[in-house]
Amino acid sequence: MRLPIKLNRAGWPEFFCSSRFAFDDPRPLATGEASRLAPASFSSAVSSLQFGVTFKTTRPGRQSHSNRLISELYRDAKPVILDVGASDAITSLDLIRALGADLGQYFITDLNLVTRCGFGPRGTVYFLDRHQTCVLRASRHFLVYADVDGALRPLACLARLLLSGWRKAVNWRDVLLVQPALVSLAGRDSRISIMSYDLFEPWSGPRPDLIKIANLLNSRYFTDAQMKEALRIQCANLGPNGRLLLVSEDHDVEKFSLFRKTAAGMQLEYDHAGGAKAAPHVPAPAPVCAVRIGQVELEVGT
Ligand SMILES: C[S@@+](CC[C@H](N)C(=O)[O-])C[C@H]1O[C@@H](n2cnc3c(N)ncnc32)[C@H](O)[C@@H]1O
Repeated sequence: MRLPIKLNRAGWPEFFCSSRFAFDDPRPLATGEASRLAPASFSSAVSSLQFGVTFKTTRPGRQSHSNRLISELYRDAKPVILDVGASDAITSLDLIRALGADLGQYFITDLNLVTRCGFGPRGTVYFLDRHQTCVLRASRHFLVYADVDGALRPLACLARLLLSGWRKAVNWRDVLLVQPALVSLAGRDSRISIMSYDLFEPWSGPRPDLIKIANLLNSRYFTDAQMKEALRIQCANLGPNGRLLLVSEDHDVEKFSLFRKTAAGMQLEYDHAGGAKAAPHVPAPAPVCAVRIGQVELEVGT
């Protein structure tokens, strides 16, 4: 990140806050106010968190086109759905609502579901990742990130110095980064599960009919080789005739590609607004060649 120090919108007049150097205040997540936040405000607070290189950016209503298509395709079908990299799962909640009575099983997964928060002086909050590394320091005016890649040396040093204050923080607590409404829904509805999952690992749960990966596989976060590998694993996770939904967003425009697993491999079934960024990395179907046996011509995959 070129600028590891951003403005916290909570501490500046409106004028500064439209800038792309200003992010929403994540501190309410740590202070117990989280359960009282409106769903969109909870998502905004979670969106300011960055683990490794990936931000948890999300918001409600951003996948309305793919939600409509999926709910039409699976009418009366009760699919098993694996949602990978769901962040706070506000978009999962949107899809669950779109499916309504057609919901089968829904696995909400993300690599970073929990953060550990500790408090420094004057309302400063430190956020740790699952390896107990401090990834963010949030004060009323500034957000300081551990990802200093590409930053000028003095800025990188200042960010590291400010982050080192986490060692003196107190009152540590674990915070689940999932929409409170969804946590209580999952408690009442056994069809919905929330779990940690890394998209580079094989899935050990029930075979999914649909795997959804939204706004995760793109070149800001992963190399082409990593995206290919992740997609190879996810395609292997799918059951026969299963579908892979890749979604990406460009300037608030939802783009997606839907693939179907066939005997010949992954086939593109549907493209919206030019398709998802990671679509070219989906394993290509095996080339088909024709074999003639007597009068009969057969098509076989190679
Ligand atoms: C930009 S958010 C996308 C959230 C949501 N899918 C959406 O479209 O609004 C990317 C999410 O992927 C998660 N993530 C990063 N690396 C991952 C991995 N290897 N496996 C699973 N999830 C990962 C991050 O923690 C983050 O919550």
